[in-house]
Amino acid sequence: MTKLIYIAFDGTRFEIDAQDGSTVMENAVKNAVPGIEAECGGACACATCHVYVDEEWVEKTGSPEAMEEDMLDFASDLRPNSRLSCQIRVTPELDGLTVHLPESQG
Ligand code: FES
Repeated sequence: MTKLIYIAFDGTRFEIDAQDGSTVMENAVKNAVPGIEAECGGACACATCHVYVDEEWVEKTGSPEAMEEDMLDFASDLRPNSRLSCQIRVTPELDGLTVHLPESQG
């Protein structure tokens, strides 16, 4: 199990024990974290799972692939640390990963 931390726009903090191999989006949905709609179910086709990766974790989570980059253009209030949470797979190295939810999805 790997711990994931989601910080909602209003500052509410959600700590979740995630199964390795699942995605950051799946764990948010399963635990009713507000702000992750994931309309496409993780197919990288909707951008409603947009999160900001905490600065400390940007390097460890890596860069988005081309398909994710393209879809991110549809997310509002894009930042350098924007990612689609359905494209971040949980691994033991990400224990403590912290992501922030955008205001528009609050
Ligand atoms: S769930 Fe649709 S792009 Fe992530």
